[in-house]
This record gives sequence, C-alpha cells and structure tokens, in this order.
Amino acid sequence: MCGIVGYLGRKNTKKILLNGLKELEYRGYDSAGIAVLSHGEFSSFKAVGKLVNLEAKTKGFVTNKFAIGIGHTRWATHGKPTELNAHPHAGHNSYVVHNGIIENYAQLKKELLHEGVVFLSQTDSEVIVHQFEKNLQYSTNAFKAFKKTISEIKGAYAILLITKSEDKKIFFAKNGSPMLVGINEENEKYFASSDTPLIGQCSEVNYFEDGDYGYITPNELIIYDKNANKREPHFTKLSTNKLSAQKDGYRFFMEKEIYEQSSVIIDTLLGRLSEDRIIFDELDKNFFDGINEIKLCACGTSYHSALTASYMFERYSKIKTSVEVASEFRYRSPIMSKNMLFVVISQSGETADTLETLKMAKKAGLKTLAICNVDNSSMVRIADTFILTRAGIEKGVASTKAFATQVTVFWMLSLQVAQIKKSLSSKEIQKQIKYLRAIPASVHVEDALHEKIKRLSKRYLNGHGFFFIGRDIFFPLALEGALKLKEISYLHAEGYPSGEMKHGPIALADPELFTIALLPQHLLYEKAKSNVEELSARDSTICAISPLEFDKADDFIQTKEHGHYMLEFFEMMVVVQLLSLEISIRLGNDVDMPRNLAKSVTVE
Ligand code: AGP
Repeated sequence: MCGIVGYLGRKNTKKILLNGLKELEYRGYDSAGIAVLSHGEFSSFKAVGKLVNLEAKTKGFVTNKFAIGIGHTRWATHGKPTELNAHPHAGHNSYVVHNGIIENYAQLKKELLHEGVVFLSQTDSEVIVHQFEKNLQYSTNAFKAFKKTISEIKGAYAILLITKSEDKKIFFAKNGSPMLVGINEENEKYFASSDTPLIGQCSEVNYFEDGDYGYITPNELIIYDKNANKREPHFTKLSTNKLSAQKDGYRFFMEKEIYEQSSVIIDTLLGRLSEDRIIFDELDKNFFDGINEIKLCACGTSYHSALTASYMFERYSKIKTSVEVASEFRYRSPIMSKNMLFVVISQSGETADTLETLKMAKKAGLKTLAICNVDNSSMVRIADTFILTRAGIEKGVASTKAFATQVTVFWMLSLQVAQIKKSLSSKEIQKQIKYLRAIPASVHVEDALHEKIKRLSKRYLNGHGFFFIGRDIFFPLALEGALKLKEISYLHAEGYPSGEMKHGPIALADPELFTIALLPQHLLYEKAKSNVEELSARDSTICAISPLEFDKADDFIQTKEHGHYMLEFFEMMVVVQLLSLEISIRLGNDVDMPRNLAKSVTVE
C-alpha cells in the first residue's frame, strides 16, 4: 500500500514530509520521494529503497519559509521500483502523488503520447499530472483543470497535486484509497494516507469520503463531494496512540488484514477484468504457447493457495497441474520437462526453499512465473515474469490477505488459460467473471459473524486437537485453517480431505476432538455431510461451517448462499481466519508475532 503526505505552512517542509513518510513505513514501500514548491520554485527528490536514501539526497535542501509540499512512499503495482517510477511524478510545472490504481491509464496514456507528451515512468500514476496539464491549457484556472482531470480517471485513488500556476494551493481527490487532512492552531495544513503522521502535529482531522475532491490554501479548505456539491469539512479529534493508529483501531495487524481483504482484492482485480476477458498486462499474449503442464511450488500458506490453484487449472484450463512443497522438491531429483510452466508462489518473494526451486527450474530451462506480493523481491527479479498480488504490506506473521489475493490471482489465471485454450465457452468465462467481481463482498466481515465466532471460540481452548476437513478445493482451505490455528494458538490441528476419516483418523473421534467441517452447498455437499456425520456419530465435537442448516453439529456457523462454490470458499476462509484469531486472543497469545515464527523464512 503506498503512503501519501502533504504539507502547507511556514515550518521546515522537507523535514515534515520526511517525518510523515517515516510514520507511513509500516505500510511497506520500495521507493519514496518529495516535491516542494516555495516562492514559485520546485525542488524534488526521489530514491529507491529505504527512506534513509531519500534523506541523504535532501541533505543540502532547507525550507524555512512558506511552502507547499507532497511526499510518497511507493508499493509497486505497475512498473518496477526505480527512481523514475517513484512518486512524485512531474509535468512541466506540476507534481503529483497517487495511491491506488488508475484502471483506464492505458487509454489516457495512449492519447497523451499521441499528443506528444513524454512519459518518464512505467506507472499508471504519471498520467494524472500530464492529463492535468493538458486540461490546464484549456481551463480558466487550475481547479477547473483538476476537476476535469478527476472526472476523466477511473479506479482507486488518493491524489495530491501541486502546480506553479497556483503555488499556495494543494489540490486533492479521494476515491477508494484512504486520505485525510489535519489542521492545527498554527494554521498549518497536513495531508496523509492514515492518521499516524498527523499525531502530534494536528489537533483535528477530516477523513475524506469517496468522491471528495478540492483544494486547500492558508485560509480555506474547499471540498466538493461525489455529486460536485460543495460540502463542509467534518473535523474530529485525532487519536494520540501511534501504534493503535497503525492498526487503525484493530487489536492486531492480523485482524486488520482480515478486514482489509475486501479492499485489497478490489486492487488485485483492478484493470484485469473486462466484461468477457481476463487481462494480465504482465503476460505477453503467447506466454502459454508450448505449455502443456504446470508445476506449482511453494511453502506454508502459499503452498495451500497453490493446491487450490491446481483444482482450477485442471477443472477450467484442462491443463495437467501438480503441486510441490518447495523444501521437498529441492532434494527429490525431480523430473522437469521443457513444456512445463514452473510457478513459484510467495508473499515475501524471499522464502529460501521456494527461491531455490525457482533457480533449479531456470537452470533446467523451464519458463518460470512468480506470483508475489513484494515487487523487486528475489523471486520477482529472477523469474521470467511475475504477477503481483497487490495485497499491500502484510505485517501479521500468519498470512491472510496474501492467501486471499493469491487465490484470486489463480482463479483469474486459470480462466485466462481457459480462454486461450478454449477449454471453457466464452459464456462460461463471462459468468465466472461476474463471480470474480463478487469476491470482495464475499470476504467483507459482517459484525454479527465476527461476534458469533468470538462467542463460540471460548469452547475450543483445550481438547486434544482439531480436524479441519473439506472436500475437493475445500481440502486446501481445511489445511489453511489448520495452519492458521496451529500458528497462533499453539493448539494441535490437522487438515484432512473429508473422505479420509475412515482410513484411520476417525480413531481419534471423541468429545475432546474438535472437527471444523467445511460444508459448501455447491460442491459435493452430500458426500461431505456424510463424512461429518461419521464423526458426529462417534461423538466428536463438530463445528459446521455451511450455508445449509446442519442439525448434527454442536456449533454451526451459517454462511451466505452464493452462486458459486468459490465464493463459499472465500467466505469460509474468513471464518477459519477469524476462528483462529479469536481462539488465540482468548489464550493470550501474541497474534501478530507467534513464538518460534518469522514473517519470511529466508533460511533453510
Ligand atoms: C503462513 O501463515 C506462514 N506465515 C507461513 O507458512 C508462510 O506462508 C510461508 O513461510 C511462506 O512464506 P511466503 O509466502 O513469503 O513464501
């Protein structure tokens, strides 16, 4: 997730912007920059990597008179982390910073290039400043040009723009990406993507709403809403605790990241779906030529999303697919054929075992693809090509939104292969695209559901272990649910295919064995139900998760009825994530940093 700061006032603008960006480091970034306009002159600095690199570049730069300034930490979604791709992006007399994704940037960029505009970066964001300057040529003032520009861009954005033609104004617009403005008694104005940079600087803040746009000057804050009606700011008192601010009021980063799944999956989908087609800019049109087998390789939660993907590649793309645990694959003298696409999946892009398998595949001459959340990570740099999951920084050691965005990418990718190989009709693909668009709603956390899980979690704090069971594509989800619980509650849990119970595991069934049963309505419901009944008949304590009432359960978490089993998958994913969270909290564990674990396992 990118971070944005802005300042208008008479203090040390450079220092205020850099300190503000430091407070946004928790959002994760791979490059940063600032631009300051004072007395009609711009000064701009950008650097790749950590903020200390940017600070070094601004050493000799001092601002201690009235100025306006904007700053940005970039989490790459379009274009690699380089100085040219870092924000702020420059026009002739303006600079812009942007957080979000401009869905129609390609069309806008094509028109601007046709008109002779020179682009310096590969980003979607740069179109904003050039479109603004194009409009400025035909507008009577900068605000009209800015307003027209905002009406022309589509997608998610939080934007700050400054221009020489109005050097006491900061223009802003917000839609889908967070941003707020703060004021204080010294008549200073602060902007930021979240409230942490404003704590200690401002006394009151106004959180912008989707569709808000306008400008601020030393004497006024002008806000227009999404219907272009002027509205009064709603200033509220600012919280004072930085850490809780970074968690946006959630108890743990993991809880925040479970709630964020709905919004980050919107980013994952953005620009990749049309009415009837999947579009991955990252893959050229003949990427799958000559490929007749896919090998997926990963560890931990990423291994579970790979297993999930294998069901979709074989069912939709009709392509032979196999899945490997990276630490096993490395030493197994595996057979790899040239027509095999080797795919590594990794949130961090740095997991040692997965990285080594990627090198093995490259050495064997295979085409390689990395599905990663961190641009410029080792796997992104080594693989032939990569797809970013756009989950934003994931701070909880127990992965949640990374898993959700990986599965989202794989659902899209399996449909893209299906459209290339014509293994699904375009009608079926259109239907599934409609379901893809429904994922964000399916992972939205309803208060009632969370309250129910909070309450029933008190019954699952001991016992001699858990079975998480599911059939077909719900088996990898059962594995993921079991891993989540193990990782943060330290209680023993195993994921099993429901059909395996009578091959041994059912010997464990008794009231102290807790079975979390995934019972989707649209996939082998009757078969899965009878497996659960076997356990219930032997007095295992059953927690059933299903849209359909199940009377043999001791606990029942009712999920919504959906049109497709993958939407049931996503909703049940949230349930098992919340269940492990609430059990762990009741046990008093450090949910974000569980014992013995690291966020990225960069050693064997
Ligand atoms: C998941 O909750 C764990 N933190 C762990 O299994 C993780 O998924 C695994 O280490 C792989 O990490 P990666 O996705 O960064 O490669």
